[in-house]
Amino acid sequence: MANQEDLFKNIISHAKEYGFIFPSSEIYDGLSAVYDYGQNGAELKKNIREFWWRSMVQMNENIVGIDAAIFMHPTTWKASGHVDAFNDPLIDNKDSKKRYRADVLIEDAAAKLEDKIKKEVEKAAKRFENFDEAMFRSTNGRVVEYQKKIDEINTRFKTAMENNDMAEMKQIIVDLEIVCPISGTRNWTDVRQFNLMFGTQVGSVAEDSSTIYLRPETAQGIFVNFLNVQKTGRMKIPFGIAQTGKAFRNEIVARQFIFRMREFEQMEMQFFVRPGTQKEWYEQWKAARMNWHRAMGFDASKYRFHDHVKLAHYADAACDIEFEFPFGFKELEGIHSRTDFDLANHEKFSGKKLQYFDPELNQNYVPYVVETSIGLDRMFLAIMSTAYTEEKLDDGSGRVVLNLPAFLAPIKAAVLPLLNKDGLPEKAKEVIDLLKYDHIITSEEKDTIGKRYRRQDAIGTPYCITVDHQTLEDNTVTIRERDTMKQERVSIDRLPEIIDARVSMKHVLKKLA
Ligand code: GAP
Repeated sequence: MANQEDLFKNIISHAKEYGFIFPSSEIYDGLSAVYDYGQNGAELKKNIREFWWRSMVQMNENIVGIDAAIFMHPTTWKASGHVDAFNDPLIDNKDSKKRYRADVLIEDAAAKLEDKIKKEVEKAAKRFENFDEAMFRSTNGRVVEYQKKIDEINTRFKTAMENNDMAEMKQIIVDLEIVCPISGTRNWTDVRQFNLMFGTQVGSVAEDSSTIYLRPETAQGIFVNFLNVQKTGRMKIPFGIAQTGKAFRNEIVARQFIFRMREFEQMEMQFFVRPGTQKEWYEQWKAARMNWHRAMGFDASKYRFHDHVKLAHYADAACDIEFEFPFGFKELEGIHSRTDFDLANHEKFSGKKLQYFDPELNQNYVPYVVETSIGLDRMFLAIMSTAYTEEKLDDGSGRVVLNLPAFLAPIKAAVLPLLNKDGLPEKAKEVIDLLKYDHIITSEEKDTIGKRYRRQDAIGTPYCITVDHQTLEDNTVTIRERDTMKQERVSIDRLPEIIDARVSMKHVLKKLA
């Protein structure tokens, strides 16, 4: 098995080779941090979105879904705080003219020291029997020195970020002697705050036009529609509004493939609750969301909670569900108890009341909100990178297989005529027609049957149905299972029931309920 860095490269190549993800406008050399989903990627992404939507909206009577516009009145972003505070600290190297996120340069410098410690620990672990890592870390001179430096960097960095102290951020970069990876020099500009929202002009005449933004999150489309949905849907608190859709951020450090993109898709749900009950709901949603992730069937050790210690000014609790990507544990989903910050601010900026009359309390109030927010592309990467497996087989050959959860796989079954003659393709077509109303089915006639199985393994197709000469005699086919490669012979009449039982989303949703 390749090391993690090589493995990640292999996953990216595989995603392209098998029609999952292409660089955007590749014929023009691509556009940084923007990607297109190919024929298989679009299906997988659609299935993940559908699983989220069905488990949120269809499975919960008190959650409804909306589809708000990407463009919103510009004051929305003043009220939400994005115009004033949705910033990244940036620094330029004067020689290479390259722009970097100052916080990332500092974090990378600390990570390099962590790597040095890791290497010392690994070296020592090989040398000594009964190796005591904690003892080694606290007594080895070099390791103690590195750790001291990391702690110092972290403390200074945290204070600088909290105080919005850009001069201190620059000083940390100078003190750490960080060089530009391109020019190799330390010729840095000052650190400046840079707003992440993309702005554009609305209106055809320059004088009449005004700046509007491409939304940086879908959540605000829910907040501004809170009362519309509550009144027209006769919703009683507690209730939720869900939405999936594109969001845009001018990310400066765009790396790690689809992990951090400039155009991405979010799946967000705002749950409106009575003030004072938000802590309970926050705990309930933490548990519910973790259960949803576990339904993928991946090892439980791939997920962990990261509780935020320093909270945004509007939150009274927040955590991330982190996932172990090939480049380490990183945020996959955020769960935030956002108090009444957004609705109260929209009330203030719009001058319109955004309150709920609670018949049980006989009083009006601005509801509190617990938010669950997940990136669809990031979820795609979590699934794709975990499913990607390079396998050595007993006969000495190898295969690459995508062990995708069957209910999410882009294609549920491939129908393969053993030979491209003798009436087998025509019989295969009958089988496709039997299944295609319920599932995405494909067919392939080119290449040996073994090569066709491998291709479907690489796409993650859970079942290959082979039509052979016996099929013409007794109306049976073989079904080959992707992960075990085991084959069974079944009657064609039973295929709809067998495939449905093994690939349908409803069975997973039932288990989740
Ligand atoms: N409404 C809250 C909100 O937007 P966030 O932590 O900024 O919170 C939520 O984003 C989720 O959106 C993240 O956990 C991540 O999965 C996804 N996300 C954020 N920025 C992203 C980016 N540049 N590329 C891909 N996904 C992103």
